[in-house]
Amino acid sequence: MGEVVLAAKICHVPSMYLSELPGEHHGCRDAAIAGHKEIGRRARELGADTAVVFDVHWLVNSAYHINCGEHFKGIYTSNELPHFIKNMEYEYPGCPELGELIAAEAVAAGVRTLAHNIPSLELEYGTLVPMRYMHMGVPDEQKFKVVSIAAWCAWHRLEDSFAFGAAVRRAIEKSDRKVLVLASGSLSHRFSDDRDAQANMHSWTREFDKQMDLRVVELWKQGRFKEFCAMLPDYAEHCFGEGKMHDTAMLLGLLGGADYDKPVEVLTEPFGSSGTGQINAIFPV
Ligand SMILES: [Fe+2]
Repeated sequence: MGEVVLAAKICHVPSMYLSELPGEHHGCRDAAIAGHKEIGRRARELGADTAVVFDVHWLVNSAYHINCGEHFKGIYTSNELPHFIKNMEYEYPGCPELGELIAAEAVAAGVRTLAHNIPSLELEYGTLVPMRYMHMGVPDEQKFKVVSIAAWCAWHRLEDSFAFGAAVRRAIEKSDRKVLVLASGSLSHRFSDDRDAQANMHSWTREFDKQMDLRVVELWKQGRFKEFCAMLPDYAEHCFGEGKMHDTAMLLGLLGGADYDKPVEVLTEPFGSSGTGQINAIFPV
């Protein structure tokens, strides 16, 4: 019998990679990296063998999609921010069986979903960045099997993403996997205008977004998801939700939707990054 052993909403900002390197930005994302390492540590302690990532950097224009390849290996450079992430090596095992199970559950729930085991279908950095830090210093035999799910759902309804998340939970429980589930995406996501990019490296673009993010995190800490679910469509629209916040909808669907009421534990306090709002937070299962 499989189970979700840990669930979290996490950042994946490319400045985490810069933070590792010598130079001006060395250490600037230590808190975010420490949050990822702690999530990885706790997940392993709880017996996790697989990571399922809702990745808002995988854009899809039709249907829901699961990348459940056998094995992922490559050298990644971001085409969106090549000056931030370049030549990042990665290698993770995959879990085609779980991807297929998720697709079957989602289809049965009326959500048009396809599972793919295609060697040339690569991972996006919403998956690669957290996997990097959650595997740092971890021996090969303890690597998570990685399943990546498209969460930049350009023409999709948030309610379908809630239903999709619930299907992910059922599929995991029918599997033999112990799973870490990650919603990999920001809070608000108003990137800085280009001329302000360097000045805004560690702040929000708009005070409005910052205040909204802080309020949302207060609701999360109080377990007030009835209110949060009611405001999610407006929050996503007015605060430029990354991937339209489908990662968050999937995570909440997995946890029970508007009836979920557990207080969230913040591991990395909200921070501004290139104008956007970011956090690492555990959502108790
Ligand atoms: Fe992002």
